[in-house]
Amino acid sequence: MPENNDLLPDSPVEGLVPTLNNTGWMTVALDEISTDFARYAGTLDDEVLDVGCAYGIATLAALEAGARVLACDIEPRHLDILAERVPEHLRGNVRCQTAVLPDVDFEPATFGAVLASRVLHFLNGADVELTVRKMHDWLKPGGRAYLVADSPYVGPWRDHAAEYERRKAAGEDWPGFIADYAQFLPPGTDPAEHPDYINPMDPDILARVCIAAGFDILEARFLRGGTANSSDRDHAGVVAVKP
Ligand SMILES: C[S@@+](CC[C@H](N)C(=O)[O-])C[C@H]1O[C@@H](n2cnc3c(N)ncnc32)[C@H](O)[C@@H]1O
Repeated sequence: MPENNDLLPDSPVEGLVPTLNNTGWMTVALDEISTDFARYAGTLDDEVLDVGCAYGIATLAALEAGARVLACDIEPRHLDILAERVPEHLRGNVRCQTAVLPDVDFEPATFGAVLASRVLHFLNGADVELTVRKMHDWLKPGGRAYLVADSPYVGPWRDHAAEYERRKAAGEDWPGFIADYAQFLPPGTDPAEHPDYINPMDPDILARVCIAAGFDILEARFLRGGTANSSDRDHAGVVAVKP
C-alpha cells in the first residue's frame, strides 16, 4: 500500500475503504486478477484503462509497474483523491476522467488492457453485455480485459446464494441478479445508502459475456477477497484477450 493512505476516508472495516457514493468499498489489498493487470500493464507501451477505479488501488500499482493509465470512475471525488495519491514522479503517466458505464465511449483500438474491478455487479445484465462489447472495441488487437465482479457468495446478498444456485441450475442467464437489494440489509440500515439492485456474478457468466463480445478466455475462476475473513469465492474473475 502506498504511503499516502492518509488521503483516504476513514473506514470502520479493516481492509476496506468506503466509497463516497454508496457503491460499496475499495479493497486495500489487490486481488489476483487486478495484480496480474498491474503487472501486465507495466509491460505495455500502450495506455491502459482502469474503470471503476475508486481511489486507485489498481491504478497506483500499475503506475508503479511502469504503466500509463487512464483512471475512470463515476464519482469525481474518488478521482480527486486518486490524483492526489499519485506520487509526483508518476503524475505524467496518469489521466483521470469521470465516466459512467455503460454510457462512456472511447475511440476503437485505444488501450492495451482494461481493468474493471468490482464495478460490473452494479450494472444489470444488458448493461454488462454492452460494457464488455464496448471494452472489446476499445482494446487493440491482442489487448486484454481483466474483469472482477462480486460473487453471489459475498456481501449481504450471500443469504441468496442457494436461490442463485437454483436459478443457475435452471439455466437463467443472470441467476445472481437481485432486484430489491434492500431486503438483504440489516435492520436499521438506510436503503438509500445502497444500490437499488445488485447483480453478483460467477466466472461462467463473465466468460459467457466475454465470448459473446468476441473475446477468447485466458482464465475464468473464483477469487479470494482482500479482507481477513474473505472466502475463496468472494469474487468472480476473468482474463480475456481480443484476438
Ligand atoms: C466497489 S468499488 C471498487 C473499487 C476498486 N476497483 C476495487 O476493486 O476495490 C466500485 C467503484 O466503481 C464505481 N462505479 C460504480 N458504478 C459505476 C459506473 N456505472 N460507471 C463507472 N464507475 C462506477 C464506484 O464509484 C466505485 O468507485
